[in-house]
Amino acid sequence: MPLLSLPKEVAVGTAMLGIAFATGVLAGKRYPSLIFGTPKSSKSVIGKNSPLWQYILDHSLREHPILKKLRLLTMEHPWGRMMVSSDEAQLMANLVKLIKAKKVIEIGVFTGYNALNMALVLPDNGRVIACDINEDYAKIGKPLWKEAGVEHKIDLRIKPAIQTLDELLANGEAETFDFAFIDADKESYNEYYEKCLRLIRKGGIIAIDNVFFGGNVVKPRKNDLAVQSIHRLNEKLLRDSRIGISMLPMADGVTLAFKL
Ligand SMILES: C[S@@+](CC[C@H](N)C(=O)[O-])C[C@H]1O[C@@H](n2cnc3c(N)ncnc32)[C@H](O)[C@@H]1O
Repeated sequence: MPLLSLPKEVAVGTAMLGIAFATGVLAGKRYPSLIFGTPKSSKSVIGKNSPLWQYILDHSLREHPILKKLRLLTMEHPWGRMMVSSDEAQLMANLVKLIKAKKVIEIGVFTGYNALNMALVLPDNGRVIACDINEDYAKIGKPLWKEAGVEHKIDLRIKPAIQTLDELLANGEAETFDFAFIDADKESYNEYYEKCLRLIRKGGIIAIDNVFFGGNVVKPRKNDLAVQSIHRLNEKLLRDSRIGISMLPMADGVTLAFKL
């Protein structure tokens, strides 16, 4: 089957969205699938059951034991599939280390797998400004941030991420960050990108997750606001002379924007 041809999985994902929507509405809850679309594991470029996927993990993954613990714990959560994939997180950690980052932003923390992943490679005085609207998710990861001895490096800000980014800018922190990872509500991606671009220094990196949105960006439906938003940003980034760009076929697509 071609790598991007996942009709069955997409159909299952869509059905799950319908069920999540119905259940969410009935329970009066705001379900993440409404905001983020189909779960991550149904959106990998390389199928998670593929022998090649296993080969990649067997030959490249060096996961810290406490990260592994958090990954396994998160997978038990009903929305565990929102978690960033471990190979992608490892790329983030390598980039953070390579550019000797001290201040990083994560937009969309969930249980904090990638926040912990980045905190583990930051210097002791480094900081992850970790933005989310849901504290319950982060409560799952917090004990493990502590067990890993890096809790003090993760500054969790529970409010809409736009508000946190505006506060950082108002606080005079423009051009003081080294790295940003955007992984929350897709409709706000352009705003996140613009604010992060102001917050990071020249030579800093913005990583943007889910830029393929399950392959849907190839033929974005007019009424799908999340896909439209990502597709528009993808088009804009190609022509954005403020950055260098690489779009990687990893997980659900990751774009790296290098601030020039
Ligand atoms: C895909 S998950 C993030 C996964 C995470 N990066 C990881 O390491 O596993 C998306 C997260 O974005 C959060 N979110 C959604 N809308 C948000 C908003 N407006 N501001 C901040 N966080 C938001 C959700 O609560 C959810 O935890």
